[in-house]
Amino acid sequence: MSDLKKIKDELLLKLKSKLNLSEVNQMKSDLFGKNGLVSSQFKKIGTIAETERKKFASELNVIKDELQDLINVKIKEIEKEEIREKLQKEKIDITLPERPFVRGKIHPVSQTIDEISSIFSEIGFSVEEGPDVESEYNNFTALNTPKNHPARDMHDTFYLDEKKERLLRTHTSPVQIRTMLKDKPPFKIIAPGRTYRSDSDQTHAPMFHQVEGLHIDKDINMGHLKGCLNYFIKEFFELDKIKMRFRPSHFPFTEPSAEVDIGYEMKDGKIVIGEGDQWLEILGCGMVHPNVLRNVKVDPIKFQGYAFGMGIDRLAMLKYGINDLRAFFDCDYRWLNHFGFDPLDVPTNYRGLSR
Ligand code: PHE
Repeated sequence: MSDLKKIKDELLLKLKSKLNLSEVNQMKSDLFGKNGLVSSQFKKIGTIAETERKKFASELNVIKDELQDLINVKIKEIEKEEIREKLQKEKIDITLPERPFVRGKIHPVSQTIDEISSIFSEIGFSVEEGPDVESEYNNFTALNTPKNHPARDMHDTFYLDEKKERLLRTHTSPVQIRTMLKDKPPFKIIAPGRTYRSDSDQTHAPMFHQVEGLHIDKDINMGHLKGCLNYFIKEFFELDKIKMRFRPSHFPFTEPSAEVDIGYEMKDGKIVIGEGDQWLEILGCGMVHPNVLRNVKVDPIKFQGYAFGMGIDRLAMLKYGINDLRAFFDCDYRWLNHFGFDPLDVPTNYRGLSR
């Protein structure tokens, strides 16, 4: 037993001096490590006479716990002391000048996408997304635009391979296909995103943004389409009344198809939406073609509905008085500072996506 007593006395003595954490950890492994002093006492148990063995073992256990407690208390003390010292040494110099602070702005296109999503979510549309790189099938064939269809030529497509099987989507309509293949009707979605066509001038960029709308259910007709678009345009431009007209058009994936114009007039060199007798085309739409529904295994006798697609950049330009589309994508900070939105300023018709 005297061995154990000696070990404890020595430890108590050592712990009295000023120690750092690694010294205490060293002591810990000297005692409890594989060949440590305490561990070797445990190994001795087998050699002790049977009459003494029980007593020795239980005393050894008690001392072991005591030693462990002593060491743990010391470790805690050292840690506390280290924190105290650190706090005393590291004084904050409050006279230092602050770091320059740059607050970013929200790009008008992102802002417009948020506004559009918010307006449509009020009437039950949810938001879907699709990839920029699409299959030829989703972008054209499934949308009732087979190979050699003249409508393909109008899209100035960027193909990504020789076989023309992969491309940069030329419109957001392939998201209709993806959504309908994924789920069962009814569908009520919008799909905002980037689209690409080989085209560039003041009002066209090779990358631009569209938002697709799709509403498929039982007994959906063109009246619903008209009501929905009328509501959207009034909300988006924050107007009580607008002039809107449907002009017959053609898209392979809708029948009948229409283009929608809204009324405007020029006042002091600026476009004023809603009044006047000039017309501005803003979107394409129509009743989803039965062939499209068949392609995605939706029965066109039971379900029908409408789709529309509009250019987001054009809407942003009209609403916020921006006249060159290319500036959107120049990444010029001065421009962004002028036309961008403060992240903390909430526009009047923005209700948040969560509502
Ligand atoms: N995808 C058409 C385009 O890019 C727009 C559209 C969408 C028309 C949906 C009708 C229905 O021009």
